[in-house]
Amino acid sequence: MNIVLLGAPGAGKGTQASMLEERFGLAHISTGDIFRANIKGGTPIGKVAKSYIDAGKLVPDEVTCDIVKGRLCEEDVKGGYMLDGFPRNLFQAQELDKFAHIDLCINIDVDINLLMDRICGRRVCSCGESYHVTTLNGATTCKKCGSPLYQRDDDNPETVGKRLDTYFKETQPLVDYYKKQGKLFTVKSGKQPPSEVFAVIAAELGKRVGK
Ligand code: AP5
Ligand code: MG
Repeated sequence: MNIVLLGAPGAGKGTQASMLEERFGLAHISTGDIFRANIKGGTPIGKVAKSYIDAGKLVPDEVTCDIVKGRLCEEDVKGGYMLDGFPRNLFQAQELDKFAHIDLCINIDVDINLLMDRICGRRVCSCGESYHVTTLNGATTCKKCGSPLYQRDDDNPETVGKRLDTYFKETQPLVDYYKKQGKLFTVKSGKQPPSEVFAVIAAELGKRVGK
């Protein structure tokens, strides 16, 4: 099963992908994580991506599509995958349909008023886990791997505002794109705790893959 995870910044795409990876064994491909790894490694892609990410804009389509196309040739995606943060505009969605077959788009719907607090309170680990300060109870290391937690450079109120603008202008139209293809499953309870959102998604996937 090949899945697109759609949702505004802070909707919980990464949180759900991590739980779904564990339950269903689907490879988790986050374009944001790939860009951040490139920035950390000082690669040419990282140098291009940084200025766009810091400005809350989309990294150019050619760069992003090439990365995903290459990633989908790797061995671990053969058993199915989740794309977290790709596609993010109509062009990317149309390109994706040329080099991959998508079975389902899971759209996590969350009230916009909750997003700023969720993102600005987020703490992340280099292993990909993310947390919120309200549930960390002062902990500063990752529960999964023990590494120190940190705040993403783009998780500040000014950049978050720009990321939300970009989402509403460029990415939200993809809800209709996948609806027209008959592939859309919207999680209306995105404001519920992560475990409840997960239960809704897992029930839907369970019906489709028999797990
Ligand atoms: P990316 O890394 O994809 O960021 P994003 O889309 O802005 O989404 P986030 O990672 O901020 O949110 P999330 O939905 O994963 O939420 P999370 O689970 O962490 O992209 C970053 C940048 O890279 C983009 O701005 C762009 O510049 C570039 N980029 C990436 N892909 C691109 C593409 N395809 N094309 C061009 N450019 C691209 O949860 C958030 C917080 O809420 C956490 O603290 C979490 O603990 C908490 N939380 C999660 N679920 C719940 C819940 N149910 N209830 C309460 N709290 C919750
Ligand atoms: Mg994420």
